[in-house]
Amino acid sequence: MKLIYTGKTKNVYALEDGNYLLKFKDDVTGEDGKFDPGANTVGLTLEGAGKAGLRLTKFFFEALKEKGIPTHYVDADIEEATMKVKAATVFGEGLEVICRYRAVGSFLRRYGKYAEEGQPLEAFVEVTLKDDARQDPPISEDALDMLGILSKEEYTILKELTKKIGNVVKEELGKKGIELYDIKFEFGRAGETREIILIDEISGGNMRAYKDGKYIEPLELEKLVLGE
Ligand SMILES: Nc1ncnc2c1ncn2[C@@H]1O[C@H](COP(=O)(O)OP(=O)(O)OP(=O)(O)O)[C@@H](O)[C@H]1O
Ligand SMILES: [Mg+2]
Repeated sequence: MKLIYTGKTKNVYALEDGNYLLKFKDDVTGEDGKFDPGANTVGLTLEGAGKAGLRLTKFFFEALKEKGIPTHYVDADIEEATMKVKAATVFGEGLEVICRYRAVGSFLRRYGKYAEEGQPLEAFVEVTLKDDARQDPPISEDALDMLGILSKEEYTILKELTKKIGNVVKEELGKKGIELYDIKFEFGRAGETREIILIDEISGGNMRAYKDGKYIEPLELEKLVLGE
């Protein structure tokens, strides 16, 4: 097992069988000790955050599998806080794809002149570049194509997949009386066919979820969705 990437919240290992192993850490993104799913720095360490994130990730990836949506998921070992996944290559140096159901976070910071806080958005999709030094700038379909990061055909697939996956997560949360405001995904190409699949994780650290108008922290979200 070879460590190939040390991330902010996970470490990535290459396995002998060609798959990758993601090790979930107890670090979560944020600033000044406060959790923020949109942040590019580790804000705090919460005991149990790694396992909780993995449990939610396993739950959502298995729900996607049942629906025939392509992902990197192979299996998960909760005790070890590890998930086995298919190795993928990302677009350019990595993209984040955001699906929004209400106007909050960076959407509101950018478009506050025209949008009201909490205004409903119908699975609105936005793409940003993973570029910490430039604060993950948003990028248009034309720019993605022009810069050779993602073709227009691929953009269409990515957008449709994002809406589909966002809606699955929204529906699952809805069953527990939880409302999804926004969520961030990553995609890559995998296998011989270079099919576009969902990679990375789906946990409290990648979304904003609310219950009775109150924001739910990642660890609490795991308890609400999966039980104590
Ligand atoms: N199936 C996969 N194949 C290849 N890379 C993957 C796969 N799943 C996840 N990754 C990558 O593994 C890394 C996971 O680590 P982590 O989430 O901690 O990164 P990070 O420090 O948050 O940095 P980033 O801002 O790149 O997400 C990410 O860079 C993610 O893109
Ligand atoms: Mg990450």
